[in-house]
Order: sequence, then C-alpha cells, then structure tokens
Amino acid sequence: MSDIKVIEREELKEKPQGPIGFGQLFTDYMFTMDYNKEEGWHNAVIMPYQNIEISPAAQVLHYGQAVFEGMKAYRQGDDIILFRPDENFKRMNKSNARLNIPEVDGEFLLDALQQLVRLEQDWIPSGQGESLYIRPFVIATEPYLGVHAATEYKFMIILSPVGAYYGDDQLMATRIYVEDEYVRAVRGGVGFAKVAGNYAASLAAQTRASELGYHQVLWLDGVEQRYIEEVGSMNIFFVINGKVVTPELNGSILPGITRKSILQLAEYLGYEVEERRIAIEEILSSEYVSEIFGTGTAAVISPVGSIRYKDQEVVINDGVTGPVTQRLYDEYTAIQEGKKEDPFNWCLKIK
Ligand SMILES: Cc1ncc(COP(=O)(O)O)c(C=O)c1O
Repeated sequence: MSDIKVIEREELKEKPQGPIGFGQLFTDYMFTMDYNKEEGWHNAVIMPYQNIEISPAAQVLHYGQAVFEGMKAYRQGDDIILFRPDENFKRMNKSNARLNIPEVDGEFLLDALQQLVRLEQDWIPSGQGESLYIRPFVIATEPYLGVHAATEYKFMIILSPVGAYYGDDQLMATRIYVEDEYVRAVRGGVGFAKVAGNYAASLAAQTRASELGYHQVLWLDGVEQRYIEEVGSMNIFFVINGKVVTPELNGSILPGITRKSILQLAEYLGYEVEERRIAIEEILSSEYVSEIFGTGTAAVISPVGSIRYKDQEVVINDGVTGPVTQRLYDEYTAIQEGKKEDPFNWCLKIK
C-alpha cells in the first residue's frame, strides 16, 4: 500500500485535567483505510477524529460484521512503547478470517499505528496505572440488505487516554457473578474471535450481574455449563495449591494477550503454571483456591474478591488482593512502565 496521507486539524482539543476514567475521551486524530474488491485496502489516512458517514444499509448495521482489538501505549520516561502490538494484529486477522473479512497487513498497520501514536504522544498520560488505549476495528460498509460477506469495509484506529478500568483503584477486588442461564460462546462459534457480536450477546447477563451488585460475569462453557471459560472482558486465573491455573484454550475462549503474557511471566518467576479444564464446583468447594484474578489489556490484572454461583457466594482471600496476584501485577506493570527490564522483548519502542 502507498504512503499514509495526513490531514491536519486546525485546532487541537484541550487535554484532560484530573482523573481520566476509561474510554470516554478521544484524541485529536484517527487512522482510517478502506477496502473494496478492485483496490483491496487503500486510502490510508490519518485525519482529525470525527464522525464517519456510512449508509443506513451498511452491512455492519444489520448483520454485525465487525471485529476489533484493544492494546495500549505507555510512557517509559522519555520513550513511548507499544505492548506486544504484533499479537493484536495477528489476532485481528484470525477474527477477520472467521467473519470472512479480508486480511489486513499487520506490518503496514504497525507502521501506521506508530505514526499515529507519535503524532498523539502528548495524549499519553503518565500517572500511575495510566496509558493510551488503542482501538483498531473493522466494519462492513457495503450498502446491501442481502446476507453475504460484504465487499466493502472500513478499518479504523482510534485512541483514548485511560486510567484504571474499575474506578480509581487498579487493584480493587472485584465481585464476580457466575452466569448459569446464558452462555457466551459455543464450540465452532466465534468465541475465540474478537467480534462485536460476542459483546452484544453478553450484555443482558452483564446488566443483570451489575444490578445485583457484581462487577463482571464469569462465563461457563456452552455445552455443559460447568467448565469455566472467562470473564466479560478478561481471562481468568486461579491460584490452586500455589499453582497458577487458567482454563485451556478450547475455541470458545478469547486467547488473551495478557493471559499469554502472564503465563510466561509466572513461569519465569518460578510459579508452576497449568492450562486445563476447570469445573465451577472445583473452585467453589476447594479450600486450596487461595486467589482468583482476571487478566486483560483494559483492566491489566484484576483481583477477584468474591464469586457467586446460584445461591452460593464464596469469598476469596478475605476479599483482598492476594500475594501472587500482587506480585504478578507489580512485575507485569513494571515491565510495561519500563521500571524493570523486559526479558521477553514485549515492549516495542516507537521511533
Ligand atoms: C472476552 C475477553 N476475554 C479476554 C480478554 C483479554 O484479552 P487481552 O489480554 O488480549 O486484552 C478480553 C479483552 O480483550 C476480552 O474481551
């Protein structure tokens, strides 16, 4: 693809003062490119952040052909880094393939992303637990009311400076509701892909859980409704007999990049790690489950203080952050923030 055109804005927005929360502020610029059958991906532009115009018949609005990614840029002193961005573009192409969306060029997009983040570097916050959240996504824009794989798409990247995902305290212990009616994903479905429809399908359960006072839903498998899969926007880990255990990837769980990184880091730090099937009753009845935590780009590592399944509520580690969770959080964020060396080469410095 040819070079990226840059359209400058006349005036920059005011930068936020004080707490920035999560996902409501957007920077000055965005990246977009288009796809059609004749030209493939083309028209790559960095332009002022603005509304987009699509036809009311755009296929995404009717049949939900949409995928997205989430990653972060951090400040490390005077440097800016992207955390494992190649993994996100690889995962996006797996999601694209599942939804019959044309493949994107990960290398080209990595260059485009670096150019965009460089331009927007003043938006990267530097407070504790703060970063620049990066949201690449693809939508089907072809105006057509028949069901088929669209022939036109738009790819975009928007940026949002963010703080802690759950309120001010990054390590606030969350309360989790185990969903026993609805399921998130089934074998052969789209659970492993980061497709928009997965999140739409999760909202009724998420709303019910929040009305009952819980932060997140824990999903069980779609066949027996017995084996633990993941949380709304995080993978889930258990400390069982000192071992760091997480459900094995089975096609219906999203293969989280934080999950993959935490498995590597835990092993590096000397913990025994295990990926296997975990039945909900094992967690509820075992006196050996000492900690539970979620992992995801947005929330990083999020301790779970209690878990409810049907009428049973189990408090974990007295409802506070346990030592393994704390250590993994400290070590992981130290690598992201450049406070400790990065033995895995996860941080890509933006030139
Ligand atoms: C359903 C779901 N599971 C797990 C994750 C964690 O994935 P990652 O660590 O790549 O952010 C996310 C967030 O992207 C998610 O939406």
